[in-house]
Amino acid sequence: MKFERLTPSIGANVHGLDLNRPLSQAAANQLYDGLIEHLVLFFPGQDVTPEAHEALAQSFGPLGPPHPLYPHLPGHEPIMILEYDAVRRADSDVWHSDVTFKPNPPFASVLRSKVVPPHGGDTLWASMYAAFDALSQPMQRFLKGLEASHDIFTGFSYLEEGSEQHEMLQKLDRKAHTARHPVVLRHPASGRKALFVNSCFTSNIIGLKPAESRGLLDMLYRHIVNPEFQVRLRWQPDTIAIWDNRSTQHFAVGDYYPAHRLMHRITVIEDVRVAAKRAAAE
Ligand code: SIN
Repeated sequence: MKFERLTPSIGANVHGLDLNRPLSQAAANQLYDGLIEHLVLFFPGQDVTPEAHEALAQSFGPLGPPHPLYPHLPGHEPIMILEYDAVRRADSDVWHSDVTFKPNPPFASVLRSKVVPPHGGDTLWASMYAAFDALSQPMQRFLKGLEASHDIFTGFSYLEEGSEQHEMLQKLDRKAHTARHPVVLRHPASGRKALFVNSCFTSNIIGLKPAESRGLLDMLYRHIVNPEFQVRLRWQPDTIAIWDNRSTQHFAVGDYYPAHRLMHRITVIEDVRVAAKRAAAE
């Protein structure tokens, strides 16, 4: 297995693996270490079966339940379908980490391309370590004491009334889809500090006045889009991307309308290696 670093702060291509074959424990550990170091890993030319996709994700930890608003692959509940074309408009073209409206947001996501548009439809990832490190020390100190509210209703507020997804959103239990997280997260594996607010699901910073919260969040959202913190993937069919949801945000460019783009995503809800270390320390 070889990691080819793509930028100084984020991203690596991984070569020398056939992901349709089971990973040895040693290879799974090496991949995990690579993910913690590079934050997002790309695997070109991996025409994996749904079973192999699930097995790869499971090597990092238990898989997430079906997403409350997106369909899943029949017979494979953990595999969420993201499909866009002339009638379904792209909706992931906003900087975010996945599912931060849950009290324990997923550790990682494993995304596989099935159909890619002839042009466009790239995905960008940004390092939230680099974003935090680039802030001034007084701003870092100020943010470290704060917590923010995240909820699914903020993230999907654009849904048209009367649409199927809007109906599903209305039926969700508000409490179960709202969470409170520190604005600066100490990463449980690396110990590094990462900015943990995103323009999709974060509604407000707790304890600040509405105008202060809006102003601070807008400043941070402008800050995180610095190209120096980013890596960009031009998808080919059968490419896999795995990212650490705790130290990154991503943005799927929605520039390919009306072309067809089909992706399969699995979320890994818990980092088993961190959980095992915690259990051993107790
Ligand atoms: C996502 O936002 O999780 C999907 C990203 C993509 O479709 O490239």
